[in-house]
Amino acid sequence: MELNVETETDYYKNAKKYWSTISPTVDGMLGGFGSISFIDIRGSEQFLRHLYRLKPAPGHQRALDCGAGIGRITRGLLVPFFEQVDLVEQDEQFCQTARTSLKDCGPKIGTVYNEGLQSFVPQAGHYDIIWVQWVLGHLTDEDLVQFFSRCANGLARSGMMVMKENFTSNDEVIADETDSSVTRPLAAMKALLKRGNLRVVKEQRQTSFPKELYPVYMLALKPLIKS
Ligand SMILES: C[S@@+](CC[C@H](N)C(=O)[O-])C[C@H]1O[C@@H](n2cnc3c(N)ncnc32)[C@H](O)[C@@H]1O
Repeated sequence: MELNVETETDYYKNAKKYWSTISPTVDGMLGGFGSISFIDIRGSEQFLRHLYRLKPAPGHQRALDCGAGIGRITRGLLVPFFEQVDLVEQDEQFCQTARTSLKDCGPKIGTVYNEGLQSFVPQAGHYDIIWVQWVLGHLTDEDLVQFFSRCANGLARSGMMVMKENFTSNDEVIADETDSSVTRPLAAMKALLKRGNLRVVKEQRQTSFPKELYPVYMLALKPLIKS
């Protein structure tokens, strides 16, 4: 997906506009499929537990939830696993909802960054887990590669990034003009990961989702070269 600078700006502007019309609820986050949130979180929890059986396992100190929306994943998955969770989300209203609704998690919630992933720079060597779910279709290929490389740099020793995304079941990139996103084939994503200094250490398909949804895969990633 190659875009010139003008179309690239529109690509992000249109997504921003789309998300500004979406209600700050779990159903809003999941495009009307709020009912799958429970299965999704349980699948992620199982995957994360597997990662902690690998050697060396990541730490339990700090996690980052990317494209966090209202903090659905932070609350359901990350808060029980980590001492502190930061969030990054481009929509201001979702950030406000996350700040308010996660108040009962107390000091476990760190900073909620209101910023797009295309420019966000995680603090170097900081995170044990960087969780990225259902958001990467909003980034252009080149921005994805740069984002991966900044995340690789943002991982603590033995840290991992986890991506959980929709993928096409053939080799086509499918564009969605409604929310200004694309769904990529898994092979295309893996090629971008490599360019972004990340390698796959574990891969699993999410089971028990409705058949009409795209296949969803979880990929655990580590830096190819640690800087
Ligand atoms: C499908 S929702 C998923 C939210 C959350 N990851 C979850 O699973 O509950 C996509 C989220 O990505 C956010 N988003 C879209 N483009 C983004 C970007 N360029 N940078 C950061 N967040 C973005 C949207 O505002 C929205 O909150």
